[in-house]
Amino acid sequence: MSKPMRYFPIFADLADADVLVVGGGEQALQKVRLLLKTRAQITVNAAEVGDELQALADQGRLSIDRAPFSPAVLQGLRLAYVASGDAAHDARIAQAARDHGVPVNVVDRPELSTFITPAIVDRAPITVAIGTEGAAPILAREIKTRLESWLPANFGALALRAQGLRESIAARVPDQRLRRRVWERLLAGPFRRAVLADKQQEADSIVATELAHIDGAGLRKGRVALIGAGPGDPDLLTLKALQRLQEADVLVVDRLVNPKILDYARRDAERIYVGKAPRGKATSQAEINRILVREASAGKVVARLKGGDPFVFGRAAEELATLEAAGIATEVVPGVTAAHACAARISLPITLREKVRQFSVVTGTTAEGEPDLDWMALSNPHAAFAVYMGVANAPLIRARLLAAGASAETPVVIVENGTLPDERVLATRLADLTDCMVERAVKGPAVLYFGLDWSDAGLARPEAVETYVRPRVRKASPQSSIAASNVEIEL
Ligand SMILES: C[S@@+](CC[C@H](N)C(=O)[O-])C[C@H]1O[C@@H](n2cnc3c(N)ncnc32)[C@H](O)[C@@H]1O
Repeated sequence: MSKPMRYFPIFADLADADVLVVGGGEQALQKVRLLLKTRAQITVNAAEVGDELQALADQGRLSIDRAPFSPAVLQGLRLAYVASGDAAHDARIAQAARDHGVPVNVVDRPELSTFITPAIVDRAPITVAIGTEGAAPILAREIKTRLESWLPANFGALALRAQGLRESIAARVPDQRLRRRVWERLLAGPFRRAVLADKQQEADSIVATELAHIDGAGLRKGRVALIGAGPGDPDLLTLKALQRLQEADVLVVDRLVNPKILDYARRDAERIYVGKAPRGKATSQAEINRILVREASAGKVVARLKGGDPFVFGRAAEELATLEAAGIATEVVPGVTAAHACAARISLPITLREKVRQFSVVTGTTAEGEPDLDWMALSNPHAAFAVYMGVANAPLIRARLLAAGASAETPVVIVENGTLPDERVLATRLADLTDCMVERAVKGPAVLYFGLDWSDAGLARPEAVETYVRPRVRKASPQSSIAASNVEIEL
């Protein structure tokens, strides 16, 4: 579980609110500069102030209270910043503010503060606040710099323009879901470009055309995106997957999809879990198909999230066929499949000029149990392949390959929980595969690679890889099947 947040971000309304800044030096000035972006009524409490603060007072942008600090000034304050330059004095003021229930920030002293001020990217009315809870302010600065360069300086104009259209669009499109889609199209397409390029008339006519063609644009109809959510690491989502995720009214989610990926969806999107856990409750494929048709037929935008790529051992074809038969618009968004992602993570090439010209992916489990594979072809010394769902049947796969003539020395690499924080990588040889799986308690999900080794590519085995060699002197070798609790499932 991720670390709980200590500071919860909220935006305080400072319009016409009384805000006190104690101190007249540089630190106080910095807070004042920030506060001047708001419509707060600023009072600076200090016997002496610098030139800039004085100039601001002369312009009527703040008041200066030169009297010694008295708790009475805390009455009715919305916020207080403290930077008097005297640590003991600051601590007393902070305590007084707490006693009066006034949120207080003592500059650079979070232990005395009840709030901290984030790094801010200001594209009013859009504001991005970045906080690291004091852990790494440099990172906050880096994020701020990146956002500054990514968000055009007039990005706020887009929000203001949207604000101006809100009421008329709400009146013209009363259906909330439909309205959201109209907004999604406006804010992602030509309207956005026109506003940012300051072509206001063009923007107006785009809005008019959009509203005139609501039905023609097919916005009233539901649709389903079959999305490949990748192997786990949310950073491996494609941009298109991210977009479709954010548009969705409903998420229909498989078990292998990392829950962190759902953080990218809208908070109000409904979530339906249809995963199959080993020996756990499963939703039948027929039921999943029914859910997809039901949700899309109700006019919802559905994101069907599948681990890896939807078309690699994902049963997406069955869902697609059912949806097409029901006349529902579909789209398939590719994802990074486990065999590719897990190999890339450990710098293990899956094809090599001259040496590995063919690479296949096979399943280690079928509905019937034993995988019906071409063992002769797979045992060819030039064959390289990845086995999905192969943990439970690893002893059987080993036995079949050896019986078909594969070398006992064939390299095997096992990547468990690839790209996730608990990723584990084991390297062994075919002869030792079963012992390795049992002794290292591999539970999956895991991809098993056969016939691939770093040395063939002139690469060193990465340090993170644990090498397993069966000890020479040992008791009875556990060639039995792997514990039922380890069983991976076939979808
Ligand atoms: C039903 S298949 C789905 C494959 C998925 N559609 C894909 O393209 O990766 C499930 C199998 O994918 C593999 N797998 C999925 N995610 C994995 C991960 N993060 N690490 C290792 N193997 C994974 C395992 O072999 C697991 O048993």
